[in-house]
Amino acid sequence: MPSNLTPSQIEPLQQKAAAAAQNAYAPYSHFRVGAAVLLEDGSIVTGCNVENASYRLTTCAEQTAIASAVTLHGPAIRIRAIAVANLNNAASQPCGACRQTILEFSTPNTVIFFPKQDGTFDHVTIADLLPAAFQLNQ
Ligand code: THU
Repeated sequence: MPSNLTPSQIEPLQQKAAAAAQNAYAPYSHFRVGAAVLLEDGSIVTGCNVENASYRLTTCAEQTAIASAVTLHGPAIRIRAIAVANLNNAASQPCGACRQTILEFSTPNTVIFFPKQDGTFDHVTIADLLPAAFQLNQ
């Protein structure tokens, strides 16, 4: 397993992501997404997508979870892993904007677990998800 994560760490993360998706506010797309973030200190924080009638104001599950993690644990958080789940039996990887948000709080070892079409999970590193990412060096 990546990042020395064990199945006993990964499975609860996936379950918490699916549980968070139950709270999704998705009256427009009906695509209900949940995310669970495992922080370096072992804490887990979840989020779901929150849509808006003004569509572009929609917040993805990953962004909701990461914003909550910063709120609860402060600006120094680092993401060890993030699991994404949906209740639509669909394959889905984080959107482009979420990749940039995950990167902001990542380490070189941060891993993303996402559902494949067959219902099983696959995983990928943030470096593979967002190569040549924008970074602000000042
Ligand atoms: N969505 C997420 O929450 N996370 C993803 O990884 C993909 C897309 C949401 C945004 C919107 O509410 C719905 O799924 C359809 O795009």
